[in-house]
Amino acid sequence: MKVLLTGGAGFIGRHVHHQLLAEGHEVTVLDSFRPDVHSERPAPRDDLIIGDVRDPRTFEGIDTVVHLAAKVGLGVHLDDIDDYVSSNSLGTAVLLKSLGSIRNLVYASSMVVYGEGRYDCDVHGPVAPGPRRSEDLDAGRFEPPCPYCAAPLRPGFVTEDAVLDPRNAYAASKLNGEHLAAVWARETGGRVTALRFHNVYGPGMPRNTPYAGVAAIFRSMLERGETPRVFEDGRQRRDFVHVRDIATAVTLSASALPQQPAFTAYNVGSGTVSTIGQVASELARAYDGPEPIVTGQYRLGDVRHITASSDRIKHELGWKPAYDLPTGLADLLGAAAD
Ligand code: UD1
Repeated sequence: MKVLLTGGAGFIGRHVHHQLLAEGHEVTVLDSFRPDVHSERPAPRDDLIIGDVRDPRTFEGIDTVVHLAAKVGLGVHLDDIDDYVSSNSLGTAVLLKSLGSIRNLVYASSMVVYGEGRYDCDVHGPVAPGPRRSEDLDAGRFEPPCPYCAAPLRPGFVTEDAVLDPRNAYAASKLNGEHLAAVWARETGGRVTALRFHNVYGPGMPRNTPYAGVAAIFRSMLERGETPRVFEDGRQRRDFVHVRDIATAVTLSASALPQQPAFTAYNVGSGTVSTIGQVASELARAYDGPEPIVTGQYRLGDVRHITASSDRIKHELGWKPAYDLPTGLADLLGAAAD
């Protein structure tokens, strides 16, 4: 394949780039090297376009686009809201308009499009709890109750057909990108696969930025000799998936596109549920650092539990994650200079 890889200089992008080249594909990277993420710009190269996806352009000799370029993170201030929409929604829209005769697109989406994960009530079956109320969070009531009878709920695995309910600016902009790509596919006869990534970790994770995911934040703290601070009660559930497993999901999806329908969504997670408290402790042990503290603080845009079933990509594309958390953390520790 001749692949255009947007965001190819980012954390996930560099691993995807490596994997595409290893599989023998030709890759052109488009990356803006935004200064809030990259401290320096590389020298010009034939296989690198330094530029913003929001700038219209034409692409020659490309058959498949992998669109990773995005402003990531939860949204630290509401002030960021227009930058999320501009970087992610407008960025995707301009890219789609620039695709010309290209018909194959892999779009990096996120588990955050679901909002809260799947929950079951013993009485009411599957239910969709709304956003948590600050008075409950202030009182340490972190678990969302059944919206009908307020009973405790059992968290489960969300599947791709679940209701989509983004809860923050980043999530809303990522879902908007999925919708725009689906419109593009319908109108052009193209095909898009949206990969809804779980919490990605591994070598090359961003450092020292409040926009990073929790694993990167904990690692930076441990490297500075600080104690990781676990929010809520530490029992919120996530799935941490290794960045090299993400890279194989992307390349498999890109190769499969010609056989796919107009729009496909796949969850991409390791399949193993971890609590944030557990991950903090495992990382602290791995770095021989101080035992994490559970602070009871919360972030209003956070969901309580989100874990997904990745059975669909396993069955349809034969994807299989290679890393469990202990192996992945050992790999992270081994990658000293990332
Ligand atoms: C994360 C990513 C999101 C990605 C999604 C995929 C970020 C900021 N979020 O969302 O981009 O699409 O996974 O599923 O990159 N926490 C602490 N201590 C801290 C920081 C966070 O305990 O210092 C807690 C949070 O309150 C939350 C959990 O860790 O409960 C996960 O936080 P985080 O990784 O930021 O966000 P996700 O919602 O999982």
